[in-house]
Parts: sequence; structure tokens; C-alpha cells
Amino acid sequence: MAAYPDVQKRVQNEIDSFIGRERLPSWDDHLHLPYTQAVLYEAQRWQTIVPLSLLRYTREDTTVQGYNIPKGTIVMNNIWAVHNDPKYWKNPSEFFPEHFLSQDGTTLVKPEYFIPFTI
Ligand code: HEM
Repeated sequence: MAAYPDVQKRVQNEIDSFIGRERLPSWDDHLHLPYTQAVLYEAQRWQTIVPLSLLRYTREDTTVQGYNIPKGTIVMNNIWAVHNDPKYWKNPSEFFPEHFLSQDGTTLVKPEYFIPFTI
């Protein structure tokens, strides 16, 4: 946020306008703070803190997108690759909260390829 003062200001404005300064925030407030939520999501995408998930192994022969994976193969998710794939993200290397907002900027959008916790 310190590196992006304009973003920080917008988050503060959104919080001030919805929550104000007379009360503490509550959990339900996040439903009314799309920009703030988009900034939090984008921070988790842009600096994916767990780039590779825990190891798993296949319990039976299986196929993923045409690749045959035999029983007993160790597999892991490359979360970093999904979070930085230009096929999915307009500016993968940029901190760009609009990745998580509708075209008009008013609604939070959480795509299925946002997987900081593997889901
Ligand atoms: C934004 C913060 C965090 C992110 C993005 C994150 C992400 C992840 C990811 C991707 C995994 C691997 C999941 C898998 O392979 O199925 C994981 C596992 C785990 N995380 Fe986190 N984590 C975060 C914070 C924390 C914190 C604060 C704790 C504990 C206080 C924690 C405890 C664990 C544990 C115990 C596991 C292993 C779960 C298991 O055995 O299946 N994580 N986390």
C-alpha cells in the first residue's frame, strides 16, 4: 500500500464512506467494500506467498488435460504459474486491483483461477 499511495487513498475513501469513523468495522462490511476486497485479493495474487502447494500423490491412474498420470505419481499445484498466466490476467506482473473488478469497477469478481489457498 505504501508503494501505491493512489490505491491506498482509494481504499481509505471507500472505508471512510461506508464504515465512517464512528464505529468499528464488522465482517459483513466486506460485502460493501469491493475495491478494498479487490486490493486484498490482488495482493494475494501479485505476491503469491505459497507458490507451490503441498505434495500429493495420485491414488490411481488418471488424466489431466490429456496428460496421463500413473498411480503413485507425486504432484503439486503451481499456484504461481496460475496467478501469473497472461491468458487469465490482463497485467500479470503489475499490482492491478482491477483484475478483481467488473468492467465498470463497481462489483467484485473472484475468478476460479484465483487460488492462493489452492482454492
Ligand atoms: C494469506 C496467508 C496464507 C496463504 C495464502 C496460505 C496458503 C497455503 C497453501 C497454498 C497451502 C497448501 C495447501 C495444499 O497444498 O493443499 C497451505 C497449507 C497450510 N497452511 Fe497456509 N496459508 C496462509 C496462511 C497460513 C497461516 C497464518 C497458517 C497458520 C497459522 C497456515 C497454516 C497452514 C497449514 C497448517 C497448512 C497445511 C495444511 C495441510 O496439512 O493440508 N497458513 N497454506
